[in-house]
Amino acid sequence: SLPKKVTIIEVGPRDGLQNEKNEVPTAVKLEFIEKLQLAGVEEMELTSFVSPKWVPQMKDAKEIIESATKKGRQFVLTPNEKGVELAKLAGANSFAVFVGVSNSFNKNNINKTTQESMVGLKPIVESLLKEGHFVRACISTAFYCPYEGAIDPVKTMELCREFVSWGVNELSVADTIGMANPKESYLLFELIKGEFPTTLITAHFHDTRKMGLANIFAALQAGVDRFDSSAGGLGGCPFAPGATGNIATEDVVNMLHQMNIDTNIHLDLLVNAIDIIAPYVSRPIETGMYKLRKNS
Ligand code: HMG
Ligand code: MG
Repeated sequence: SLPKKVTIIEVGPRDGLQNEKNEVPTAVKLEFIEKLQLAGVEEMELTSFVSPKWVPQMKDAKEIIESATKKGRQFVLTPNEKGVELAKLAGANSFAVFVGVSNSFNKNNINKTTQESMVGLKPIVESLLKEGHFVRACISTAFYCPYEGAIDPVKTMELCREFVSWGVNELSVADTIGMANPKESYLLFELIKGEFPTTLITAHFHDTRKMGLANIFAALQAGVDRFDSSAGGLGGCPFAPGATGNIATEDVVNMLHQMNIDTNIHLDLLVNAIDIIAPYVSRPIETGMYKLRKNS
C-alpha cells in the first residue's frame, strides 16, 4: 500500500545550482532557500563544501551555511575531511557524503576510486555520528554510469551494506544520469527496503529521459517514502556527462497530492520560490506544474 505522507528532500540549491553556467548571487540563493522553507520544505541540501576549482558555483558554501535557517535537516554535501571541518565551523549539523558505485564515475567526480573514497570516509562518518550529527550517504550511479554503462545491483547493494554497517542514518540512492526505468527502480528499491528496514531510504532520480515520475511511483510501490527532487527541475552533475536536471519538486508534489499523499509542501508557495531563481538560471523552467501555474 502507498504511504500517507512522503518526505521531499529539496536538492535545488545544491544539485540544482552546482552545474549552472551563470553565477548566481549568494543573496539570491539565500532567498530561494528561505522561500523553499516557507513553502513547507522540511529537509534540503543547502550547498556543498567541495573544491571551488572543481565546482565554482558552490564557492559561497560558508556564507550559505552561516546565513540559512537550519531548522529541520538542512544538509551540506562534503566529500572529505576538509569539507566536513569547514562545514562544522560554519554551523552545519546534517551532513551528506557521496560515493559512486562505479569507479570511473567516482574518479571523475572526486578523483578517487570507490574503495579509496570508502576508506577515507569511514573515520569521518564514524566521528560525525559519534558527535550526534545526522549522516546521509548518497550512492551515485546506482543503476547506470556515464562511463561504464549498466551497474550490477549486487555492487550497489554492497556499497549500501558498507554504509549501513557504519551506522549512517540515511541512504539516498541515485539514478545519476536518469537512465533507470520503473521496473529497475522497483526491483532495486525492493531489495534495499528489504535488507535495510531501519535505515531511512531515499530515491534520487534525474529526469533525463522523462521517467522520473514513473520511477517515483515504482519506488513508492517498493515502500520508499522519501524522494530527492529539485524545484524547477534544475540540476545535473558536472562530472556526469549527459545528465540533466533532477525530477522537479512541483511535479512530484502535484502527483503525490493528486494521490492523496501529503508532502507538507504548498504548491503556490513553491512556485514563488522558483520565481526567485528563474531569472538567474541559464535554462528556461519548463516543468509541467510551473508552466500551468504561471499561465493560470
Ligand atoms: P583533488 O584535486 O583530488 O583534491 O580534488 P585536493 O585535496 O588536491 O584539493 C584540491 C584543492 O581543493 C585544494 O586547494 C584543496 O584545498 C581544495 P588548492 O590547494 O589547490 O588551492 N579542497 C577543498 N576546498 C573546499 N572544500 C573541500 C575541499 N577539498 C579540497 N571539501 C575533491 C578532490 C574531492 C576536493 C574534488 O574532486 C571535488 O571537489 N569534487 C567535488 C565534485 C562534486 O561536487 N560533484 C557534484 C556532487 S555529487 C552529485 O552531484 C551526485 C548526487 O547528486 C547524486 C547523484 O545524482 O548521483 C549527490
Ligand atoms: Mg544528483
